[in-house]
Amino acid sequence: MKALILAGGKGTRLRPLTYTGAKQLVPVANKPILWYGIEEMVAAGITDIGIVISPETGREVKIKTGQGERFGAEITYILQDKPAGLAHAVQVAHPFLKDSPFVMYLGDNLIQQGDLSYFLKQFIQQQHDALILLRQVANPCAFGVAKVDEKGQVLQLIEKPKVPPSNLALVGVYFFSQVIHEAIAYITPSARGELEITDAIQYLIDNKKQVVACEIEGWWLDTGKKDDLLEANRLILDTYLKPLVLGEIDVESKIIGRVQIGSGSKVINCTIRGPVIIGSNCFLENCFIGPYSSIADNTTLLDSDLEHSVILEGAKIAGIHDRIIDSVIGQRAQLTVASRRPKALRFLIGDDCQVELM
Ligand code: DAU
Repeated sequence: MKALILAGGKGTRLRPLTYTGAKQLVPVANKPILWYGIEEMVAAGITDIGIVISPETGREVKIKTGQGERFGAEITYILQDKPAGLAHAVQVAHPFLKDSPFVMYLGDNLIQQGDLSYFLKQFIQQQHDALILLRQVANPCAFGVAKVDEKGQVLQLIEKPKVPPSNLALVGVYFFSQVIHEAIAYITPSARGELEITDAIQYLIDNKKQVVACEIEGWWLDTGKKDDLLEANRLILDTYLKPLVLGEIDVESKIIGRVQIGSGSKVINCTIRGPVIIGSNCFLENCFIGPYSSIADNTTLLDSDLEHSVILEGAKIAGIHDRIIDSVIGQRAQLTVASRRPKALRFLIGDDCQVELM
């Protein structure tokens, strides 16, 4: 059994964060989203893992993630020269996959721990040609959608339908036998110009191959947009964060609930109400940090209040007395109060940023 994790693509929905980096490396609870997928594979016993990368962000994914030692896996990187679709990524990865059955995992998806192992066992025992996972969603138009009969048999799969036949979305985790390669060789690009894995699975259904769909009950998130990213961050902190303080906290500070503080970080006169994770070498003074916040390494926070937010590496926030909530602040971004007159707002804001002032 092999695994194929897709970490290529365009990443347009998480702009501006993805102008300077791969969307699969955006951190959730201070860990790249992609790494959760790798860890799930290893926990399910799959250590031969291929990662599909793009020419734009592949180098960064490789440098950050490495050859797999830290996960107890062996990672092979597979370059997809253009984002021509999920089925195209499988085609490019065929020399790595050979005739092995495999799990395909979209590198920006997160599923509840343990679910992958559970469905993998079913797939192996029952020798299906494909096992797909479905989840009820409120906005099916944003996903691949399944039409199923009363016995749970999949009749039809449609990618991003304008009029969805159900509210059952295709989760970004798929189990395939080698017959998927035959199906991919047969399909043609969709209206958006991509070789769709949805069409390849439809080909299997039309040709009476064994395609089974299971509805998952655990949580699943596609972290493609800001609010999904914040929700993933909330869920991961809520479910998995263990208290651990390696940095220094002065006597004036109050730490309430589950809080992690990395080595080399200093906390002076702050109130931190968990679940909160703070990385290494951060400096925090006179701040309130509220629940569901993740603060990456090397950040500085002075005289500020924040809650339910994700702060990326090297950012600086100083003197912002209005509470910052539901926010994602990019790497090395600076949010400060001007010390010079006239009293005014001064910005240097990159493309596609969103700023909401009161
Ligand atoms: O998240 C679940 C949805 O994922 C499914 O419901 C849809 O059926 C499926 O098509 C997919 O839709 P998205 O529009 O969300 O896919 P996206 O373009 O975001 O790509 C998913 C991952 O695959 C992402 O990590 C980037 C990577 N990718 C994407 C393309 C198009 C590649 O590695 N190569 C590609 O060519």
